[in-house]
Amino acid sequence: MIKSTYLSQRYCGLSRLQRCTIRHCKGRCTNCNRRAPTARASNRATHVRAAAAAEPRQVQIIPSVLPADWANMGQCVKELEEAGVDRIQFDVMDGNFVPNLTFGPEMIAACRNYCDVPFETQLMVSNYNSDTMLEEYVNATKGLNGEPGVVIVHVEACTHLHRSLSKIRDMGGSPSVALNPHTPAELVLNVLDLVDHVLVMTVNPGFGGQAYIPTMLDKITQLRSAIVERGLDVDIEVDGGIKADQTIMECAAAGANCFIAGSGMFAYPTLKEGCDALRAKALEGQKTFVDAYRRAVPAARRRTPAPVWMHPPAATCNGTCMMMANLVIEA
Ligand code: DX5
Repeated sequence: MIKSTYLSQRYCGLSRLQRCTIRHCKGRCTNCNRRAPTARASNRATHVRAAAAAEPRQVQIIPSVLPADWANMGQCVKELEEAGVDRIQFDVMDGNFVPNLTFGPEMIAACRNYCDVPFETQLMVSNYNSDTMLEEYVNATKGLNGEPGVVIVHVEACTHLHRSLSKIRDMGGSPSVALNPHTPAELVLNVLDLVDHVLVMTVNPGFGGQAYIPTMLDKITQLRSAIVERGLDVDIEVDGGIKADQTIMECAAAGANCFIAGSGMFAYPTLKEGCDALRAKALEGQKTFVDAYRRAVPAARRRTPAPVWMHPPAATCNGTCMMMANLVIEA
């Protein structure tokens, strides 16, 4: 009986119960000559496969009002609605959680009378502020007929995140949780069942017009796969430096479907041009990934997302997994 290390058992895809009889040389399977995946690659492969296995979610374009003319905010939200946006984001900053100050629930409630498009409020505020004023924010964000508005709390600000998200739901809001760039996805995995959205910040919050941080893509894919694997109905939003270019395309390909844009929308001659350009690029990004996955994985295998790096029985080793490996490398 050959005693094999845990890695070789994993690498061969055989479970703990099935003893590995394949001998290894320089990390290649002597059966089909494949390279042993690094832990990171196989984790990423899992996330990518799981994320891709699900049907793409509806693309939503959501302007941030930070670049708007604040003296005419009501008129601005009306124009954004006419431009065809899916929701409007209000960035609440208290000068404490972020080094900037904006407005409170009164401004959001005042804008409600100018349009019917759904609102979302991102609370970049201290724990004390989000705890003591949560009801005001939830009510100000609701629709004209009391429809739930999206209220986003930051995992970094909420000591009792599970309670805050449950409260938003109980108050008739649509709960969402945001993660700053340094925050790992693991910190929200235990509340994914409570939210309708997860917001992955692609800049450090506090200001508009900052550069997009591309290293957030793995986090998006990891969250998408966790959501898909649990069969949850949760959108992924990205916010910060999103433009109608590679930034929105690669976020869409990674699994995001809601895109917040401030300067990236207000930079266009008209808001409609900005909205349409962002939506077109997001759809292109989503399609690119789904097409690559569909080309690579036969329909029969798409129905059930494959388990981690499954080693096909020797007789049927037809290189399928090599195709998957290529997909992962390309993605
Ligand atoms: C930043 C805000 C963002 C910001 C996005 O803290 O949360 O919504 O307004 O602006 P751009 O798209 O210009 O980065």
